[in-house]
Formats: sequence, structure tokens, C-alpha cells
Amino acid sequence: MTDFVVRPITEDELRPTFDLLVEALHDRRPSDERWAQADGAWALPGKFGAFAENRPVGIASGFATSIAVPGGAVLPAQAVDGVGVRADWTRRGVVTALMTAQLTDLADRGTTLACLHASEAVIYGRFGYGIATSGRTVRVNRPVQLREGVEAGGAVRLLDTDEARAALPALYERIGLHRPGMIARPETWWPMALSYRLSREGGYRVAVHTGPDGRDDAFAMFKSVDQATAAEPEHGPLLEVRDLHGASPEAIAALWRFLFSIDLVATVTSRFRPVDEPLGVLLTDPRRVRTTDVEDDLWLRLVDVAGALAARTYGDATPVVFEVDDRLLPANRGRYRVGPDGAERTDAEADLRLDADTLAMLYLGEWRASTLAQAGRITAATPEALQRADTLFATAERPWCGTYF
Ligand SMILES: CC(C)(COP(=O)(O)OP(=O)(O)OC[C@H]1O[C@@H](n2cnc3c(N)ncnc32)[C@H](O)[C@@H]1OP(=O)(O)O)[C@@H](O)C(=O)NCCC(=O)NCCS
Repeated sequence: MTDFVVRPITEDELRPTFDLLVEALHDRRPSDERWAQADGAWALPGKFGAFAENRPVGIASGFATSIAVPGGAVLPAQAVDGVGVRADWTRRGVVTALMTAQLTDLADRGTTLACLHASEAVIYGRFGYGIATSGRTVRVNRPVQLREGVEAGGAVRLLDTDEARAALPALYERIGLHRPGMIARPETWWPMALSYRLSREGGYRVAVHTGPDGRDDAFAMFKSVDQATAAEPEHGPLLEVRDLHGASPEAIAALWRFLFSIDLVATVTSRFRPVDEPLGVLLTDPRRVRTTDVEDDLWLRLVDVAGALAARTYGDATPVVFEVDDRLLPANRGRYRVGPDGAERTDAEADLRLDADTLAMLYLGEWRASTLAQAGRITAATPEALQRADTLFATAERPWCGTYF
């Protein structure tokens, strides 16, 4: 028996469902002040609630965005930014009902992709989401020196909070979605991200690089964290860098040069950097850069498999026929022929069989089909079909999202 209902939430249910989410994530209910700071960022539409006796017991929230895919197309997408079920209602099918309602609605409205960051990796595969990008945590021990020949032009300046609020949205837009996996940041994303980070408690400062042509072309947020301990009082501050974006490798290198030059800092760290960012090789001593973690970043869901497959480009190999199973969105089930000229539905015999979550792992180029087959996630008629799929889906750059939501 279903003892709850799932439906889009209404304006007056925004605050109670936000409270529910933060409590599910073990945070405290926001004070009125923090709620006001969020500045309308927790907004309609895109939110489904589960209600029992008219009280919210679960929430699946999202906002409309777009995602760059291999070849440069930018597709309509939903960023799922908050999923939570009240602790006394878990394991009763609430999130399953919410995910089904949300994805069915997205399919009906013609949204091609959905994406999220997962607090736990065991939840979302069953709903057709797969790990589609990875992020690297780097730890750089100062002092460091950049190699001769690394671009040193332009200038860096620090922005105050109001300047940052005014400048960053347009700068991010100008930098553009230049890697597969990058997403557009709607207006509502910025207050949610900036209000706390740039507050006194958040402690982040914003640096912007202006290129030799006089145009701003890169930005980053950073804050100092004390790492001295009683045992090791001499440890200098650690500089935590987040949200570093640039229009070109030169602009990004110039901003790193600035961040590495800040006095008194012992260590610079940053989480969720692209795994193929050439940070170590910028330095005279590449061992100064340590990768301390690589973790799943963006989880992707192909809501419209035919539309998504047709929109990206492919490498040069003989076409492969995929048979896709999709339990949650059965309209996606079927066979697709994917080749250098594109992708379309077909009745031909399948070379490879896989589920929707595994297809999502292949889609942005993060995984090789042959690797996923080794894990039993793809069944191949012949080993050479896997090699063709490897070539077709390979991308020049690793996909990367670079936006937390
Ligand atoms: C994680 C959470 C959203 C799951 O919601 P739920 O309503 O309990 O999930 P459902 O009852 O629909 O379960 C669906 C399936 O996922 C499994 N599942 C759900 N959460 C799981 C978890 N944390 N670990 C392992 N399995 C889990 C269930 O056992 C069930 O499996 P089945 O289909 O084989 O029976 C909920 O427990 C929650 O809000 N947790 C705290 C906040 C959180 O982690 N949010 C996720 C943010 S990304």
C-alpha cells in the first residue's frame, strides 16, 4: 500500500522541504538569516516532494541547466541538487517514487540529460545514473617554481564580495563550457554558492586574472586554513583553492602562479580538479604536486538515449550496435547504431549489451567500454566490438564538471 504521494511542491512548501533536506544530510535547519542569504536560490520549478498526511517526508530537487558533450554540443539537462528522505521514512520506496516522477517528467518535457553529485555511490545506479566524470585532489608543497616558458603575462587582482558577485557569472559564461561535462550555471546557482563562501565565516577570497589583451580570463576562490598543531607549530597555513576556471591553459597557469606565490603558505590544495590537468609538469619539480585522491564527480543519466547519442561526436571506427536496457524509462530500450557519422536507432543485431547507467559512464568519454566489460557491465558479442566502442567514445580531453551543486 502506498501511504505517501509524490507531486511537484508549491511555493509555500519551499522552506519545509529545504529544512527536510538539510536535516537528512545531518546539517542544522537554517536560521531565518541563512534562509534569507540563500536569496531565492531554493526555488521552483524542478522540485518533487513526497507527502504523507500533507507533510513532506522526501524531496528531490533540481534546476534546469545544460551540459557540454563531446564534440561541443550543449544539451538541455537537469541538475539534481538535493535528494533526501526523512529518517523515519527511509527504505519504504520514497526515493524510488521521487526519482521515477522526476525522470518521467524530464522525459516528457524533452530534457536530454540529468546529472547529480552523489553523497553515497550505492544509491543512483539503479535509477540509470552512472559515474561520468572524476575529480582529482591535488596537494602542492611550497616553495614551487614554474618552468621557464610557462606564460607569465597579465595580472591578478583580488575582488571584494560585491565585485565578485557582479563579475563572476559573466566571466564563467565567457570562459565557456569547453570540456565535456561542464554545465551552465543559472542565476540561482550563484547566490547559493557565493553567499556562504564569501561571508566572514566562509572565508573565501576571489582572485581574477586579466590576460595580456586586457580582458578577464580566469578566476579562483581561495582561503587560508591554519595547519599548525601543538606538535608541529611551524606548519604554515594551507591554502584551499576551489572553483578555479580559465579560458585557456595559459590563463589557468597564470592563476596557479599567483596562488603558489602567496606568502607564508606551506601547502596549496584543491579538490575536484580535472584528472588530466598538467599541474606537475608546469613546475621545475613535478614531485611537489601530489594526487591525494581521485573521486567520482558528476553522475549522468541519459533521459533521452536517442537524442543524447545523436548529439555527440564519435571517433573513427566501424560502427557498433548497442542494445540498451532501461528499467525506469522503457522508451529508451532498444538498439542503437553508433559510428563516426552519428547514432540512430536500428534493428540490426547487437554487438554490445548494457544498462542505462553503464551507457551514461561511456557517454562523456570517462570510461572505456573494454574496461566496463571487464567488470561485467557490458556483454560483448566479440572482443573486437569493444575495441571499436573504445575508439568511438574516446575523447581528446577527460570530461570534467567543475561545478558543485
Ligand atoms: C539515501 C536516501 C535518499 C534513500 O531513500 P529511500 O527512500 O530510503 O530509498 P528507497 O526506499 O526508495 O530505496 C531504493 C533502493 O535503494 C536502496 N538504498 C537506498 N538508500 C541506500 C543506502 N544509503 N545504502 C544502500 N542502499 C540504499 C534500498 O535498499 C532500496 O533497494 P531495493 O530497491 O533493492 O529494495 C535516504 O535514505 C536519505 O535521505 N538518506 C540521507 C540523505 C542522503 O544520503 N541523501 C542522498 C543525497 S545524494
